[in-house]
Amino acid sequence: MQFTFNLYASGVRSVPVQLGSRSYEIKVAPGLLPKLGGECARLKLGDRCAIITDANAGKKYAEPAYESLVRSGFEPSLITVPAGETAKSLRTVQNCYDRLAEQQLERKSFIVALGGGVVGDLAGFVAATYLRGIPFVQLPTTLLAQVDSSVGGKTGVNLRAGKNLVGAFYQPRLVLCDLDTLKTLPEREFRAGLAEVVKYGIIYDAKLFARLERDLPKILKRDQEVLAPVIARCCEIKAEVVGKDETESGLRAILNFGHTIGHAIENSVGYGKFLHGEAISIGQVAAAKLSQRILGLPQRDVGRIENLFQRAGLPVEIQLSSTRRKKLFAAMRLDKKVSGGEIKFVLAEKIGRVVWGQKISTSLIEEALAA
Ligand SMILES: NC(=O)c1ccc[n+]([C@@H]2O[C@H](COP(=O)([O-])OP(=O)(O)OC[C@H]3O[C@@H](n4cnc5c(N)ncnc54)[C@H](O)[C@@H]3O)[C@@H](O)[C@H]2O)c1
Ligand SMILES: [Zn+2]
Repeated sequence: MQFTFNLYASGVRSVPVQLGSRSYEIKVAPGLLPKLGGECARLKLGDRCAIITDANAGKKYAEPAYESLVRSGFEPSLITVPAGETAKSLRTVQNCYDRLAEQQLERKSFIVALGGGVVGDLAGFVAATYLRGIPFVQLPTTLLAQVDSSVGGKTGVNLRAGKNLVGAFYQPRLVLCDLDTLKTLPEREFRAGLAEVVKYGIIYDAKLFARLERDLPKILKRDQEVLAPVIARCCEIKAEVVGKDETESGLRAILNFGHTIGHAIENSVGYGKFLHGEAISIGQVAAAKLSQRILGLPQRDVGRIENLFQRAGLPVEIQLSSTRRKKLFAAMRLDKKVSGGEIKFVLAEKIGRVVWGQKISTSLIEEALAA
């Protein structure tokens, strides 16, 4: 792997996200949560603050976050939302606004998002819109949030009509990935996060992919020595992609590898049956098979991809009844990337390199899912 991140003597890895005046740092290390207050003070983010968390992450980490902020002279308020995707709603946003106003958070205030991707997306959107925008800090506590959702500035909530339909591009001022918080993450959530980690290897970094193949047993044991450089490398790849294409007019689309099929599985089989990471694991394997047909991705690479997901305990195929199959393709046609009956795909030429904008007919996709 080619690292460009800084490794401080303290053992903290620091990845820069370069976006001009909106640039910020992602720190990856154990023990960052107790340093939250000091970090916020250093950045001079404001006087008052609010921690937005969910019931699960809050139970474990609200107290140390709160105490750290108090030690640095802040008077934080704590807003706890219910755990789960349903909290990503305009109703919860409204509740958060009301609480912030009650606590008299004004322009010189900031928000700390403490939790997984749900909390990050929700709290980020609240920060983007409350008083037309106040600063926020991400303290992601799931693997998915550490390697993906906390980086890059996509914030938002769901509507009944679909996921992430209301939102804003709004960058955090700092991201603190505390590896210690991953210790309490349920096994299934951890493995689901690995689906995004593997994705970075496929789309951008063959050496990362090879390292994952080699170190998977240690990663599954959440060995911090092994996890730290891997998480930092994933953040670095996302930062690089976002730095080149913040609002997804081109390159950023590569982050959607496996996601067109993955989202369709989530939409048609129903949220709840598959976690996002599980759905995109199936989606990435299908995309690899399509890549073989269309771009000549070597069979050996398809096998390595399928095998790595399998070893990570993730599903690689889906059994579909004909009704489900119809629903899945209907869901795929509703996807943003569809035009004129063809679906725009991200496909791999080889592990570590993908191309986007490949137009694929639904019949080929059907074959890849059936194979
Ligand atoms: N903004 C982006 O770029 C982006 C990218 C990918 C995904 N997302 C969004 O992220 C969300 C999914 O995020 P997620 O997978 O982190 O789900 P999540 O936030 O729902 O967290 C998963 C579960 O783990 C619990 N949890 C969180 N941290 C924990 C910890 N350390 N210990 C124990 N339990 C913990 C949560 O309460 C929840 O029950 C989706 O809404 C998705 O749309 C956004
Ligand atoms: Zn994803």
